Amino acid sequence: MKYTTLVNKQNKFKESFLNKINLVKTTDVDNKEVFLEEETYKAYIELKEYLKDKNIDIGITSAYRTIDYQKSLYDKFPEENNQEYVDNYVALPGYSEHHTALAIDIGININGEYIDDITDKTNDIYEEIHKHLYKFGFILRYPKNKENITGYQHEPWHIRYVGKLPARIMYQEDLTLEEYLNNYSCVLYINKPKDCTSFDVVNIISKLFGIKRVGHTGTLDPMATGVLIVTVGKATKIVELLTAKDKEYIAGVELGIKTDTYDNTGKVLEKKEVPNNLSIEETLNSFKKTYLQEVPIYSAVKVDGKKLYDYARNNKEVTLPKKEVTIKEIELLEKNNNTFTIKTLVTKGCYIRSLINDIGNELNTGAIMTSLIRTKQGNISIEETNTLEEIKNNKYKLHTIEEVLDYPTIEVDNELEFKIKNGVVLDNNWNIKDKVLFKNNNKLLGIYEVYNNKLKVWKNFT
Ligand code: DAL
Ligand code: ZN
Repeated sequence: MKYTTLVNKQNKFKESFLNKINLVKTTDVDNKEVFLEEETYKAYIELKEYLKDKNIDIGITSAYRTIDYQKSLYDKFPEENNQEYVDNYVALPGYSEHHTALAIDIGININGEYIDDITDKTNDIYEEIHKHLYKFGFILRYPKNKENITGYQHEPWHIRYVGKLPARIMYQEDLTLEEYLNNYSCVLYINKPKDCTSFDVVNIISKLFGIKRVGHTGTLDPMATGVLIVTVGKATKIVELLTAKDKEYIAGVELGIKTDTYDNTGKVLEKKEVPNNLSIEETLNSFKKTYLQEVPIYSAVKVDGKKLYDYARNNKEVTLPKKEVTIKEIELLEKNNNTFTIKTLVTKGCYIRSLINDIGNELNTGAIMTSLIRTKQGNISIEETNTLEEIKNNKYKLHTIEEVLDYPTIEVDNELEFKIKNGVVLDNNWNIKDKVLFKNNNKLLGIYEVYNNKLKVWKNFT
């Protein structure tokens, strides 16, 4: 979370941060040597060039500061300014964002002199500059009306590099870095690429958003592609609700072969002739049922605290657990000699490679999965997903918690908000059947669930 690192009155700068970044040398408006973090510097130059076309000339008036330098600034404030005034503008040594080398104070060239102050001449120009910062990954760090959150007076000159994606969200949703890191949440519908794990996707999203708390719902194996729902920030609290949804897949099947993983990435265990009079459709139809499916040995499911694939790798005996699954729909899409493609809709926890292995056993030929696409999870279909490339290139759609859950949403007043914030049990005045989302002023407060004819808190979002 390099570029969204938080340094404010409550969060002291950690000097080890400097080991994670590269500093580059440049000059300030007085031609004095100053330093900035490499990517921040590049973004600054792009911003400066962009503003030139708008006849705005900016220069650096302050960049990276050592703790000693911040101390000299802090101590330099004239005696006539009282302590409160000083603390509204200058950070204590060790608590300035300038220590990160990601913050820049920018001055505006007014008749040959760079000014970084609130004046009649600079005000409108600063406002114009602020509209474009996000395009280069910067935010206005101390905006108007957010003084109680940032702890500082409005500083139109102080900009902070956070990276393009977080900067765009913070600008569009009018969030300070504090609000973004503590309260932001969204849900992404991702089309997982082949050959990466679901966890790799989570890591990529976490890095892009600069937010640690990211989760995914319903693991897809590396060979699989398709719908992977990823939650960012507080939305991660609803992972289990999304994982519980039915899922639709299109899978490739090869007959006459068995592998240890039940797919084409595993070790071949057996090969068999495939008779050409197989009644595949009939067999598929017979799987339209609820049954106890054995969890595949090559899976991360834990037995006695150890992952099943560790038992397999160490050649240790283990009884495979069974889970009840329902195959709601299954149809043959295409057939070619020993291979065919199926489309199937299944409940939570169903392994498609296990289903295919079971089908292979039923047909007496053995069968493995050769490809897998998740085309739907709940109501979310692959057409609505974004690729990781699209997300990196700012062509993505962010979804809210309310949007992805199909529970009723109820707007409450301040009195109820207070109760919800405190997790008070409520009467079920709305005749809720399962769960309900409570909102006030467009802010999700919490999810409640029915319990003994009352409503009790399921997740608190405040
Ligand atoms: N002026 C900002 C708050 C600083 O001293 O870092
Ligand atoms: Zn500053």
